[in-house]
Amino acid sequence: MAIILSGKEISDRLTAEQKERVKELKAQGIQPGLAVVLVGEDPASQIYVRNKGIACETIGIYSETIRLPGDTTQGQLEDTIQKLNKDNKISGILVQLPLPKHLNEDAALACILPEKDVDGFHLINAGRLFSGQESVIPCTPKGILYMLKEAGISLAGKEAVIVGRSNIVGKPAAMLLMREHCTVTVCHSRTKDLAEHTRRADILVAAIGKPRFITADMVKPGAAVMDVGINRVEGKVVGDVDFEPVSRVAGFITPVPGGIGKMTISMLMENTLEAACRQGR
Ligand code: GUN
Repeated sequence: MAIILSGKEISDRLTAEQKERVKELKAQGIQPGLAVVLVGEDPASQIYVRNKGIACETIGIYSETIRLPGDTTQGQLEDTIQKLNKDNKISGILVQLPLPKHLNEDAALACILPEKDVDGFHLINAGRLFSGQESVIPCTPKGILYMLKEAGISLAGKEAVIVGRSNIVGKPAAMLLMREHCTVTVCHSRTKDLAEHTRRADILVAAIGKPRFITADMVKPGAAVMDVGINRVEGKVVGDVDFEPVSRVAGFITPVPGGIGKMTISMLMENTLEAACRQGR
């Protein structure tokens, strides 16, 4: 049976540490602040945004949630971001994705000051990560790496297979695992013989967005299976991995809920504290 990697346990510990760090920062006159911009009424996004606000409150980070209507124009969204760029109370800005279809995500992300970009999605930060320079690391891949390291899983020379090629998870996860000297394969919807790839993986990252997509026959015995999926099925939240059968094959597995999702929020808090320190306010 696989060892279950509890994101909740690690994130609870990080929360306690982060609370202390915020106290120390405040004593130095630094008050970290996070602004989250949510456009429209997407139910999943509303839950994520609420959880981010709760995390800030728990740790002592000042937070603002800016809720804009679904028919917000590109200009209105960019004006909102520009105001937050100039706001000294705000150290970090996050524009919740996906945006409604009529809005241009790339253009919106480009408006965020790179030093306030706590997602690491600005081209400057994405480019720095790509080039191996110090940069803001996107929260979910950062959380995946943190969990692997916490579990003491060695990475150098290992086969890492990532299923999903998004800018939010798949691509930055590939960069990070390459930096850790893994041999990285990125699979996606057009990959032929997907299971041929996944069965070679010592580290398997599932970021597909399809419930229970990764089945036990696709997993190498002893592998570390990192499940990024959050899918609602019949009122239940399940991952991209078929948890029960896969946990009988894998060496390590992350649960959903209570796995990588918790880590993503912890890493957002981490990136916000780092942004506040960089800006010295
Ligand atoms: N939507 C899903 N995941 C994320 C994330 O990590 N950041 C933002 N901004 N939007 C998301």
